[in-house]
Amino acid sequence: MSDKKLQTIGVMTSGGDAPGMNSCVRAVVRTAIASGLKVYGILGAYEGLMHGNFQEMGLRDVGGILQRGGTILQTRRSTAFMEPAGQREAIRQMNNIGMDGLVVIGGDGSITGASKLMEHGVQVVGVPGSIDNDITGTDMCIGTDTALNTIVDALDKLRDTASSHNRAFLVETMGRKCGYLALIAGLTCGAEMVLIPEVDHEPSEVVRAIGDAYLRGKTHAIIMVAEGYKTNINDLAAMIEAADVGFTTRVTILGHIQRGGKPTAYDRWLATRMGVRAVEYLVEGRSGVMTGLNGREIVPVPFSEIIGTYRQISPEYYALARMLAQ
Ligand code: ADP
Ligand code: F6P
Repeated sequence: MSDKKLQTIGVMTSGGDAPGMNSCVRAVVRTAIASGLKVYGILGAYEGLMHGNFQEMGLRDVGGILQRGGTILQTRRSTAFMEPAGQREAIRQMNNIGMDGLVVIGGDGSITGASKLMEHGVQVVGVPGSIDNDITGTDMCIGTDTALNTIVDALDKLRDTASSHNRAFLVETMGRKCGYLALIAGLTCGAEMVLIPEVDHEPSEVVRAIGDAYLRGKTHAIIMVAEGYKTNINDLAAMIEAADVGFTTRVTILGHIQRGGKPTAYDRWLATRMGVRAVEYLVEGRSGVMTGLNGREIVPVPFSEIIGTYRQISPEYYALARMLAQ
């Protein structure tokens, strides 16, 4: 806990953008102003922090953004900040403008970056923003619900054409290290199979499962493949075609469409609550914590419990996906 009276804070969005980040920025800015603080937007995440790309934010600067995807503060990935020299430059810029608190909205990498600043005595709070929902210490991240709804909409459309042509569709979702998006999308769209980095499925098992689905009389098959799954999705499709299991095969890679779109009501509400609490934590003198969703409550989660870990996929959900795909 810090006893220094907070006067000026900064807010940034960092790493992969996520729908709802703007809702969170709006909540941070308006809560900070309501708390009597000056607040700067940091343009371009840690890259912008190192270069002093700051813009003082007023109430009107965050008007009309609650419903917009992406982030008005932009985001950048910066390898320079991963070095001590980059972190030092960032702190110098913060001191130069009198910024004595920081809210970082981003994924696990961004939270790790925030922890480096904390090690140098910076008052910093993290907010989990990542469509992958790969961050431990929170039930949900900002952006995940919107991404899931984007995926579900795409899968419902794919199912129409798959069943018209008796095809097996391999559909790749984002999620390099965590298969949460693929798993929940598979469960909510009735996929025949879900392939995620956390579960070691051999391609031969996939071929056999699709052949069995054909023999059970299925008119089509949808296989969810997280981008972190060990086999390239196009190679997998070629193996299935070569096995001649009954379905012809097609591949759809959803890609960055999952990162865009207007945030859902859920994400707007989650982002708003987390943004408000992040400023309140700083005002209360808490630092080195992330706003985590625990059931219905927002709780402070120490960076030390987050860094170097990823969300563990629920074995129950995975078993459910397999059972319901029969
Ligand atoms: P995400 O926050 O979505 O996981 P990244 O992993 O790209 O995205 O991290 C975003 C930024 O956080 C990086 O570009 C870098 O500036 C900073 N960062 C990530 N890991 C570290 C680290 N170990 N030390 C310092 N900064 C880091
Ligand atoms: O934000 C996480 C994420 O969406 C990953 O799922 C994905 O692999 C990565 O970002 C893509 O990064 P970029 O937008 O830099 O290509």
